[in-house]
Amino acid sequence: MKSEMMSVVSQRQIADAIFELKVQGKLAAAVCQPGQFVHLRVERTPGPAPLLRRPISICSVDTAKSELTMLYRAGGVGTKQLTSFQAGETIDVLGPLGNGFPVEAVPVGGRAVLIGGGIGVPPLYGLSRALLKKGVQVIHILGFRSKKDVFYRENFETLGRAIVMTEDGSAGEAGLVTDALRKMNNYDVAYACGPMPMLKAVASETAAAGKPLYLSLEQRMGCGIGACLACVCHTVDKNDEKGYRRVCADGPVFKAGEVELC
Ligand SMILES: Cc1cc2nc3c(=O)[nH]c(=O)nc-3n(C[C@H](O)[C@H](O)[C@H](O)COP(=O)(O)OP(=O)(O)OC[C@H]3O[C@@H](n4cnc5c(N)ncnc54)[C@H](O)[C@@H]3O)c2cc1C
Ligand code: FES
Repeated sequence: MKSEMMSVVSQRQIADAIFELKVQGKLAAAVCQPGQFVHLRVERTPGPAPLLRRPISICSVDTAKSELTMLYRAGGVGTKQLTSFQAGETIDVLGPLGNGFPVEAVPVGGRAVLIGGGIGVPPLYGLSRALLKKGVQVIHILGFRSKKDVFYRENFETLGRAIVMTEDGSAGEAGLVTDALRKMNNYDVAYACGPMPMLKAVASETAAAGKPLYLSLEQRMGCGIGACLACVCHTVDKNDEKGYRRVCADGPVFKAGEVELC
């Protein structure tokens, strides 16, 4: 883990309130797994009551250019401040943090289904690229509220089949990601990231199908480095010695059934 003032390469809006931020620096070389995240300082000059850093997933890494790409929703006070960073400026980045998705869980030549909901979609892009590189066939199920919220559809389509689901049917098929997942049984491993109700529904579908699932949890965080316990969730196994896991340091990716989804 490093802290670095990284150079902003570009920042652009790609959907309703969704931004793509590219940064460049040495830290990019330290990323070792898809699904890891960075903790961004969103204020240029922190005031007397500085905002907490914001955890954002690494969407993809370009090692040749030492670049990281992040996609985020400008929803609250911190992420709205983040939109003001422009090319040529620097930004304080802590990372890479956490344990990401296990690419080795799928056998070479196997098939993986990647299920993303809303702003849970970004880390699946880097995961998909890593799986494809390993010789895994990848299918994506991407869920959004509406057409205006859809992003990176074409990027995913270059890697494999991408099924877009929208709640109102204004893009792709009408329905939820689980409607598409239910029709699928020819896969070895599922990976998911998205809001908690979606993760619970996906976990119940994959459990019924008897398929392994790895989930990334986007818990509220404080320190992001395992020290404050702001992000803990309970383990399912009541005999587990510790009884909890820190999402920032033990996760954010867990095998379904390891921690309670609540
Ligand atoms: C491992 C991880 C990866 C994430 N990856 C992405 C991503 O790639 N793109 C993206 O848009 N969002 C991502 N999130 C969620 C993102 O961190 C929050 O939406 C963001 O911190 C909210 O900040 P805000 O300034 O918009 O909102 P505010 O309401 O101003 O935030 C207030 C506080 O709540 C925390 N907080 C609020 N909502 C969340 C949430 N859902 N998850 C975690 N902390 C929250 C903030 O960190 C901050 O401390 C990720 C979260 C985690 C834990
Ligand atoms: S955010 Fe502090 S321990 Fe996880």
